[in-house]
Amino acid sequence: MRPFAVITGASRGIGAEYARALAAQGYDLLLIARDAARMDQLAAELSGRHRIAVECEVLDLAEPEAAHRLFAAARTRRQAVDLLVNNAGFGLFGEFVDLPMARIQAMLRLHVNTVVESIRLFLPDMVERRSGAIINVASTAGFMPVAYIAEYAATKAFLITFSEALAEEVRSSGIRVQVCCPGPTVTDFHHTAGLRPNSPFKAQSAAEVAAVSLAALDPGPTMVTTNWSGTLTAWLSRCTPRTILARKAAQWMRRPR
Ligand SMILES: NC(=O)c1ccc[n+]([C@@H]2O[C@H](COP(=O)([O-])OP(=O)(O)OC[C@H]3O[C@@H](n4cnc5c(N)ncnc54)[C@H](OP(=O)(O)O)[C@@H]3O)[C@@H](O)[C@H]2O)c1
Repeated sequence: MRPFAVITGASRGIGAEYARALAAQGYDLLLIARDAARMDQLAAELSGRHRIAVECEVLDLAEPEAAHRLFAAARTRRQAVDLLVNNAGFGLFGEFVDLPMARIQAMLRLHVNTVVESIRLFLPDMVERRSGAIINVASTAGFMPVAYIAEYAATKAFLITFSEALAEEVRSSGIRVQVCCPGPTVTDFHHTAGLRPNSPFKAQSAAEVAAVSLAALDPGPTMVTTNWSGTLTAWLSRCTPRTILARKAAQWMRRPR
């Protein structure tokens, strides 16, 4: 039987590229997002090009019961999930006091609650089978406190710490947990966030992010940066005092964009 992967946020951007890369590796896929038309288009492209099965499930993963719906959607297709990619996410740029509460709550549910609850639901079966892998898509923003995207950076920091700790808990069971930390990547992300990219580094392609992440999955480090500027950011964030990091990041975010 072909391996089976579940990918959230698979309608476009990095998630769609995980789908393309995994389809080429012979995975059957379950794509999850809200945009049915885009997922159907991607499913048709992938099942036309590869001898695999691709199914789609329309889900708003920021809703309170989303993890249970995601788990049920996967279970009705296949008993065992070989790879879970928690990629769905969005950015939110602005002063915290001005941001709409509903958007902040949606971000916390999407990036934190749904990811943790989904892993709690999928992991027991992986542990029992002593096989499986989980990729959580975080960000280089999670390496430091970043003003004006404060809650975004904090949710990604949570994902990094959580993934690193969980990876150690399940290592002896043969489960791989990776936290993928891309830097600026060419997708709809910045437009959705209301943020014009002004990084000094050239933005990466979403296909490259997915390729680097998957190549590092087995064997590889738990925390994966996807290009040299991400690796440099990780290193700088470790050796710079937090107060200076926070101040510099805020100055950077205040620059005209
Ligand atoms: N692009 C970057 O520069 C960058 C850098 C670092 C990390 N990241 C991370 O990479 C991940 C993917 O982002 P991207 O760059 O590929 O952005 P994107 O092109 O905007 O794609 C975001 C994906 O998440 C899905 N999504 C958003 N809200 C959702 C919800 N409530 N329920 C279900 N799906 C939802 C979207 O699907 P629908 O709209 O169809 O629901 C879409 O498929 C995110 O976690 C982001 O934080 C991006």
